[in-house]
Amino acid sequence: MELIFTVLTLFPKQISDFMETSIVGRATKKGLLDIRCVDIRDHADNDHGKVDDTLYGGGKGMLLACEPVYRAWNSVLSGGDVKPHTVYLSPKGKVLNQDKVIELSQHKHLVLLCGHYEGIDQRVLDSVVDEEISIGDYVLTGGEVAACVVIDAVSRMIPGVLPDASAYENESHMHGTLESPHYTKPDEWNGIEVPEVLRNGHHAEIEKWRRLEGLYLTYKNRKDLFEKLELTPDEWAYIIQREGQKPREMPEI
Ligand code: ADE
Repeated sequence: MELIFTVLTLFPKQISDFMETSIVGRATKKGLLDIRCVDIRDHADNDHGKVDDTLYGGGKGMLLACEPVYRAWNSVLSGGDVKPHTVYLSPKGKVLNQDKVIELSQHKHLVLLCGHYEGIDQRVLDSVVDEEISIGDYVLTGGEVAACVVIDAVSRMIPGVLPDASAYENESHMHGTLESPHYTKPDEWNGIEVPEVLRNGHHAEIEKWRRLEGLYLTYKNRKDLFEKLELTPDEWAYIIQREGQKPREMPEI
């Protein structure tokens, strides 16, 4: 087994529906992934399955209490394997990116803790969580969709999960830039032609075009990533030509 995910959740069906489908489902069947769910409610410390309570200090909503979360997490440890890496999905965490995805894929066992309501009592988070991760600057109704995003992105880094390992070598975010646009047949559609270089160019020209178009797309869509790049004069010249003007942020070169 390459990688085990254990999801601690109040809504295991949301996870199980996801893991039965798509490439992740296939990788599970192939034995490359093992995705398990632990229902936090099964670990309630009362007969009614109550796992939440009101906030100390006032405030709207409910909070997941320490004990059910701690018991659920402990039930994973009793499997006897090395201490798994525990991630809490929350909008307050560090925002996920491809570097973090690659880092997570190096672990043998990831425990993904999903919050609901107003979140989880901080004391149990401080006791069990290794890192808190957000999938973006917006708020979801719970951590389950975020856990599925993490499982999907991390799984495709595991050898054998993608049909062709080289599929992700040049894709967006692998080298700090976005990927160039892609085209398939026919040559012309609705009067719009596939760029000439892709049809008639040589391998080196095509590679160069892809790199420059990827840079240009990064410039257009992701200024935050673009600012981290160091462009050569030729690359700046390409951006000037594509923009039809000198970009304001262009340094003196
Ligand atoms: N739970 C609620 N919102 C979230 C987000 N943006 N990322 C991860 N978990 C969340």
